[in-house]
Amino acid sequence: MILHTKSLAAFAIAAFSMAHSNPAAAVVRIQKTPFGTTADGKLVDLYVMTTSRGVEAAITNYGGTVVRLKVPDRSGKIADVALGFDDLKGYLQTEPYFGALIGRYANRIAKGHFKLDGKDYQVPVNDGANALHGGLKGFDKVIWSAKTSSGPKGGALELIYLSKNGEEGYPGNLTAKVVYTLTDSGEMRIDYTATTDKDTVINLTNHSYFNLAGAGSGDILKHQVRLYASRYTPVDSGLIPTGELRSVKGTPFDFLQAHEVGERIGANDEQLKLGKGYDHNWVLNSDSGTLAKAAEIYEPTSGRVLEVWTTQPGIQFYTGNFLDGTLVGKGGHKYAFRNGLALETQHFPDSPNQPTFPGVVLKPNQTYHQVTVWKFSTR
Ligand code: BGC
Repeated sequence: MILHTKSLAAFAIAAFSMAHSNPAAAVVRIQKTPFGTTADGKLVDLYVMTTSRGVEAAITNYGGTVVRLKVPDRSGKIADVALGFDDLKGYLQTEPYFGALIGRYANRIAKGHFKLDGKDYQVPVNDGANALHGGLKGFDKVIWSAKTSSGPKGGALELIYLSKNGEEGYPGNLTAKVVYTLTDSGEMRIDYTATTDKDTVINLTNHSYFNLAGAGSGDILKHQVRLYASRYTPVDSGLIPTGELRSVKGTPFDFLQAHEVGERIGANDEQLKLGKGYDHNWVLNSDSGTLAKAAEIYEPTSGRVLEVWTTQPGIQFYTGNFLDGTLVGKGGHKYAFRNGLALETQHFPDSPNQPTFPGVVLKPNQTYHQVTVWKFSTR
């Protein structure tokens, strides 16, 4: 269900008494409020979903961006664990994709070039010599059409964007649909689908940066990380995979058991130096296409736990190595070096140029589908 600010008080009361008279029918409220105006005068909104236990997810249809994620700690105290900005203005400046949807191709494509059906394609190069996260105006910078609904499974925000043939250099009219569903138990499910009218390449993700102690509370070096992956894809100096699937065994990349982020991040390891820390794709052990646990993060002072489940073959674990304190985020907090970590569920970087990696070609008779779930809890 959707409601506008004016009717909020009346609706909140209704939702409260419903949840109380029948706890099984707990509702997730959705409130739509104006979020700002883009440089070309378009209005965008913020959709705030709230569960009966006070979990909140706020998402704007500008870039399909997760603006806030408020979850309790082990004593029930709520904090916002997603890095971002208070208003749209923050997202209109150059910023590192805080919370945004990424497309058409998340992560890097070497030299912005690939061949498809014998034809050469050149997409904009925006990260040194390479293309990163969909180009100059990727899915993170477009306005998505939005629809909300609420049912027994939770509150849902459905976002649709039509990327025209040739947009940012990619072939095919591509219709992308992303549904964010927040359940009353505080689980956020992101369901991505896409279709095309011409062969194309695709890799969609969400680029949230988490700090489970609270966004703006400092670095993430004490977060304990598990990644369910026995291999990762080492990179060259432009962070393009070399093609090797390297075992994590005996290296600082082994997160099969929990390790603090900071424990080995400064190790004398060539790959850590190239990434300026962790900024790599892990090859998940689960079968691609099956929803399975990819990562578990635990923050000991708050007790917050984030599990990431996905159908994707890979996850980019990025420790905010390019954050440098120049961006002022929500509540005036500066985001300094390693103040957030990203867990981007994805196909492997540069797959269009890597014949041994799982394929990323989408054809007109197919539907792209990926599901990622963030499960929050405490211990
Ligand atoms: C990349 C980083 C990049 C960051 C922000 C991550 O997905 O792997 O290298 O700095 O996104 O653009």
